[in-house]
Amino acid sequence: MSEQTNQENGFGSSLALLDALGIGPVWVRRELAVEEVQEQAQQQANATPTAAAVETVESPSPVPVQPAREPAPMAERPAVQASPVAAPKAPAAPMPRSAPVQEEGGPPAWLDEMDFAASLEPVLIPEGEDDEPAPAVDPVIARIKQMDWPQLKEQVADCRRCGLCQGRKKTVFGVGDEKAKWLFIGEGPGRNEDIQGEPFVGPAGKLLDNMLVSMGVKRGDNAYIANIVKCRPTDETGRDRPPSPQEVASCLPYLQRQIELIQPTVLVALGKTAAISLLGLDPTTPVARLRGTVHRYQELPLVVTYHPAYLLRSLQDKSKTWADLCLAMSTYQAQAR
Ligand code: URA
Repeated sequence: MSEQTNQENGFGSSLALLDALGIGPVWVRRELAVEEVQEQAQQQANATPTAAAVETVESPSPVPVQPAREPAPMAERPAVQASPVAAPKAPAAPMPRSAPVQEEGGPPAWLDEMDFAASLEPVLIPEGEDDEPAPAVDPVIARIKQMDWPQLKEQVADCRRCGLCQGRKKTVFGVGDEKAKWLFIGEGPGRNEDIQGEPFVGPAGKLLDNMLVSMGVKRGDNAYIANIVKCRPTDETGRDRPPSPQEVASCLPYLQRQIELIQPTVLVALGKTAAISLLGLDPTTPVARLRGTVHRYQELPLVVTYHPAYLLRSLQDKSKTWADLCLAMSTYQAQAR
């Protein structure tokens, strides 16, 4: 992306800013990133398709919004699966696919695969046969869904919904512009965040800030930063660990309410925990399979990229992250039109 193009598209990125991200010489070669995405697409095409398989794009930018597929079943994560976030909606933008061919005056060709006459018969379902027990509504979640910002902040500060409250110093609610168009979502607080009560304040946070600057946004200015869980998960030795499915399920209603209140234009899931929790996917789904596609969190476009802490250890993947951010930016522009 040339500097001029960046200025034209309003993202204000520059080589200096991209150097700040530490990836200038790598991702300036746009075709490299494209090749990588194409290579990944090829690998996916060769792989055995799974229920969680997603579509890949041919170019990181500009890319029209694509729908996410139905999420994979999550037998091992019933609480998250039951959450409404697990149901992606239809795409807002037109699909760049060929439309099904329709015979003149007749039913579309794809109906041939059904018994057309039978499909016209009304089906009467005897009373009571489709009755399923109504899912139990957690009264706390019902109240969270109605909360405004001050109520939500107070509720999180006092939260005892899972065991993480026992080891925390501070809850980490989230930070930024409460009317932001960009929402970045990480996994959970680490040591520094637990002490300061703010997300992404350590080395990974510094990299995230540089990533934001390269996109023409910054913490607190048209960007909001939050995590899947609001308290720091640690293992028995006191080291950071990913949150358990139960911890995610307990905390997710807070983030869901934050998203409703913010109404962002684009969500960026930073790493696997954020992606699988928001999309309701199988926890074994690798980030590599989720990149290069615009997913849907409810009706909102969601782009997946690597977690900044991972990028600090795996410098070779920074160029892929830039491709992901380009996809997010082109998605944002398409939504703004
Ligand atoms: N990693 C995260 O996912 N979130 C933070 O807030 C800090 C590190």
